Amino acid sequence: MDLFSTPLWEVNCRDEFMKSLSSYVQLINKLRKDGEGDEGDNRSNRNGWRLDNVNLRDDFKPVNDEIIYGLSGILADKKVFDPSKKYNYRLESWINLTNKGGYNTIHHHALWSVSGVLYIKCPKNSGRLLIKDPRPAVFFHNLLPKAGEQIVIQPKEGLMVFFPGFLEHAVELNKSRKERISIAFNIGLTSE
Ligand SMILES: [Fe+2]
Repeated sequence: MDLFSTPLWEVNCRDEFMKSLSSYVQLINKLRKDGEGDEGDNRSNRNGWRLDNVNLRDDFKPVNDEIIYGLSGILADKKVFDPSKKYNYRLESWINLTNKGGYNTIHHHALWSVSGVLYIKCPKNSGRLLIKDPRPAVFFHNLLPKAGEQIVIQPKEGLMVFFPGFLEHAVELNKSRKERISIAFNIGLTSE
């Protein structure tokens, strides 16, 4: 028996999508310049810009399709998902842009089955993703692998990371002079 094990999946975007990454950087900078979205501190973001409801936008359809491609990959993980079941999903996605000196405070998305991020632009030293086990007592434990450890995910352009929404997470300070751009998402899953 393996109690309370927790998956985290990394999926690389497909080659065709990788070719379009820079066009999304341009589009996102244009949307910001045009006054869309919210500047400043929003939810967990500090010193950045956020645009919600990306899942409803036609101009970001390939981004949302790429996230669903990633989801299809993780649904094949038989350790977690039942291959005999059909899973229905609901996606919400948004843009996070972090300026120099910005970061994300620790938080969770516990109402959602799976949360994650697709990295669009991550300059060197623009902040790593930190994952924390939300069980407080585990930090006093000394036997099980990774118990109480802070898990560090190094971002990479075109990488998608998926994890259960209850996992606590934060993003380090952007120490780069350039902005850091990612598409964050929540996925609600139900099975038939
Ligand atoms: Fe988050």
